[in-house]
This record gives sequence, C-alpha cells and structure tokens, in this order.
Amino acid sequence: MIDFRVKYAEYADAFEAALKEYCDKMNFQPSVLTDSMRYSLLLGGKRIRPVLFLSALDAFGAEWKQEMGFAIALEMIHTYSLIHDDLPAMDNDDFRRGKPSNHKVFGEANAILAGDALLNTAFSLMFEAAAKGVEYLYAARCLCDAAGAGGMIAGQSADILYTASEEVSKDELEFIYEHKTGNLIAAPVTMAAILTGEYYFEMKQFGHDLGFLFQLTDDILDETGTFGEVGKTLGKDKASGKLTCVKVYGLQASELQADLYAEKCHRILEAVNKNVDFFHALIDFVRNRKK
Ligand code: IPE
Ligand code: IPE
Ligand code: MG
Ligand code: MG
Ligand code: MG
Repeated sequence: MIDFRVKYAEYADAFEAALKEYCDKMNFQPSVLTDSMRYSLLLGGKRIRPVLFLSALDAFGAEWKQEMGFAIALEMIHTYSLIHDDLPAMDNDDFRRGKPSNHKVFGEANAILAGDALLNTAFSLMFEAAAKGVEYLYAARCLCDAAGAGGMIAGQSADILYTASEEVSKDELEFIYEHKTGNLIAAPVTMAAILTGEYYFEMKQFGHDLGFLFQLTDDILDETGTFGEVGKTLGKDKASGKLTCVKVYGLQASELQADLYAEKCHRILEAVNKNVDFFHALIDFVRNRKK
C-alpha cells in the first residue's frame, strides 16, 4: 500500500522547487511583467497537471526529475488559462487560490499580458525540450494541441457561448468538459506515454476520463465547497448561468456521474500492466476533493 499523500508531496515538492528556481531567474522587463507572471505561478494550487506528468513518467520507469521543463510548461499554460478565465470579460472572478486574482492586483491589461507571456514562455520551454529527440517533439505537439484552438481554448469558447443560454444539453456540457478541462488533464499522462513509449491509448483515455471527473467535482464544489478550501468565489456558476453538470443533472445526479467517471478511470487502468497504485489513489483524491 502506498502512502498517497507522501507520494503526491514528493512529486509536488520537487516540482515546486524547480518552478521556484525558474521563477527566480525570470527577469522580463518592465518588471511588472515578471511580477505578474510570478504572482500567479507561485500562488499555490494543487499542481495536479505536473504531478500527473511526473508520476506517469515514474510509473513507466523514466527519470522523472529530468523532465521539469515540460512540467513547468504545463503549469504555465494552466496558470495562464486561469488568469484569463478570471478576467471580467470571462468569468469575472476576484479570487483565485484564496488570493486576489491577477487582474485585481495588476489590472486587466497586465493580467492579459501576464497570460500571454506565460503561454509563450511555456512554448519556449517546449522547444528547448523538443531538441532532445523526436519523442520530445511529439510530446510538445501533444501539449500544444491540448492547449490550443482544438483543445482548451475551444472549451473556453464553448463555455462562454453557453453561459446564460437557455440550452441545457448534455452534448454541449460534454464538449465543454472534454475541451476546457479534459485536454489539459489528459496531456500530462499522454505526454509521459509518448516519452516512454508505454500505453499511449490507455493513458490518453484515462486522462480524458479523469478530466471529466475533475470538472464534475469542480462544478459540484462551486455549489457545495467552502471559500477557505476552494479559494474561489462560490455559487458563481449558478449566478452567471454557466452550463455545468449541476445545471444539466442537478446536484445528486452529478455526484452519481462523478462516481461513474471515477469507476471508469479505475477500470481503464486495469489494462496498464505497471504499478499504477498511485493513480488509483489519485482518482479517489479527485473524486473526494474539497479544493
Ligand atoms: C481549476 O483548476 C480550473 C479547472 C480546470 C477546473 P485546478 O483546480 O487544478 O486549479 P489549481 O491549479 O489547483 O488552483
Ligand atoms: C475553467 O473552468 C477551465 C479553464 C480552462 C481555466 P472554470 O471556470 O470552472 O474554472 P474555475 O472554477 O474558475 O477554476
Ligand atoms: Mg470558466
Ligand atoms: Mg472560472
Ligand atoms: Mg469552476
């Protein structure tokens, strides 16, 4: 039996140290640009995308501590998506990770630019990694597509399109989930599969199902969470008419959907003939999370 929390902390702490080191070296001018990038990157957060990437590399026998470039790129893209997601023109959220959102501290224009800068810096890190070999190039392509116009951005676009819409459709909800969240949760485990040549289809499917579960619990927490734990303004999805699982299924049926997706995630791992104990525990962590 593994101690999930100890293992999670091992990956997250190693990542945090690498990220801190990278942030300490960033020196973009004017300094407000570096400050705003650093502010959101170092606000905390669960670091689940880098942890997924590093733990999957570990499960497949790779030297996971050598691959911090991609791990930082993943978190930079995720962080940029959050900064833009919180902008008044999008979700208009004043809090993120328990602290004022980027635009509340630096203003909207700087927050937009901090997001742009994080995305481009992530691409620079990906190009650097891609020079290491063709499998790195494919992994970089995987992340680029997951974040791009056919991935996370498509999901955000659909999310905005269906905000305050009369339409309450399962198909639209699934499109939003798969794209805005599923892609960036699936990318880390798929990239690890690409880099190691192991279980590509299984890990990709696992990542997508885990992404669904992740957004189901995100929507549920918007209704049932506490600010102290979630660190975001609660009840906002309902107030702004977001197309969420709670809107489509109601709270109780959403909980059942989450159980179903957790079960799907466990089942797909049965096809992976490696030590996947950590992932089984991580599914339960996502299912039962309070933040
Ligand atoms: C929030 O992501 C945005 C979603 C895709 C639901 P996280 O819940 O991973 O946010 P942090 O990084 O832990 O703050
Ligand atoms: C955001 O979904 C997904 C992103 C791509 C950032 P939400 O809008 O539900 O995320 P939170 O609840 O603000 O973290
Ligand atoms: Mg949003
Ligand atoms: Mg939001
Ligand atoms: Mg949300």
